[in-house]
Amino acid sequence: MSNDAYALAAEAAVALKELTGVDSFDVALVMGSGWVPAADAIGTTISEHRVTELPGFSAPSVAGHSGVIRAVDTESGRKALIFLGRTHLYEGRGVAPVVHGVRTAIAAGAGTVVLTNAAGGLRPEVQNVGDPVLISDHINLTGANPITGATFVDLTEVYSPRLRELAREADPSLAEGVYVAFRGPTYETPAEIRMLRALGGDLVGMSTVLEAIAAREGGAEVLGVSLVTNPGAGLAGTPLDHQDVLAVGRATAARMGVLLAKVVGKL
Ligand code: 6GU
Repeated sequence: MSNDAYALAAEAAVALKELTGVDSFDVALVMGSGWVPAADAIGTTISEHRVTELPGFSAPSVAGHSGVIRAVDTESGRKALIFLGRTHLYEGRGVAPVVHGVRTAIAAGAGTVVLTNAAGGLRPEVQNVGDPVLISDHINLTGANPITGATFVDLTEVYSPRLRELAREADPSLAEGVYVAFRGPTYETPAEIRMLRALGGDLVGMSTVLEAIAAREGGAEVLGVSLVTNPGAGLAGTPLDHQDVLAVGRATAARMGVLLAKVVGKL
């Protein structure tokens, strides 16, 4: 195995093609907390594998993140690679494992990366729990970056305007918002939530931004979608609970699945 993160992703892509029998993937989808039940709507499963069967992946440590990778044939004939769960920065393995899936998918041909997550809503006055929101931009407060060295990647349009337009054609009711990422694993304090609102954030979570940066570095087009699972701390009376996050996903899986299937069909 190689020490170089990009070479390791290339190795994983070769192993993936052997395991799945798929020569090249068109699109990769990362299913975040609450999104896993929506994956079934995207297409017909070709094969399913534990991520640990591929070089560079480790077993997930979070409920709702199964560590399974699924190769899928979609109705339009495009081949999709679906990650049923992801690695987070807060798991303490460093940045490279967080973006290894995206780099592997790009090395396996994927020109489009769809990143989904569960997020706290920072604007409960206009957001409902259970609503999907398109990510229009992000604020990276993780303190991390997947790129090392003087590679100055332009992030003017991290989340592709073209793909957001396609998603709005699929579901005209979709709102857009700015996603703020913290490292976690704690949820934010009420004071931090007030800060994020003042900074122009609409959604807050613990994922996605590093993968989006890695995808842009790799030249892929990115679509990000958050499922609002709860208001940020202090914006509603109730404490935050990961099980509630998963329950919102189960309740909205059908809508999320239809949305993703339609978007993939339009690519
Ligand atoms: Cl309120 N914060 C963070 N960081 N992640 C979340 C969340 C809140 N709700 C769901 N995921």
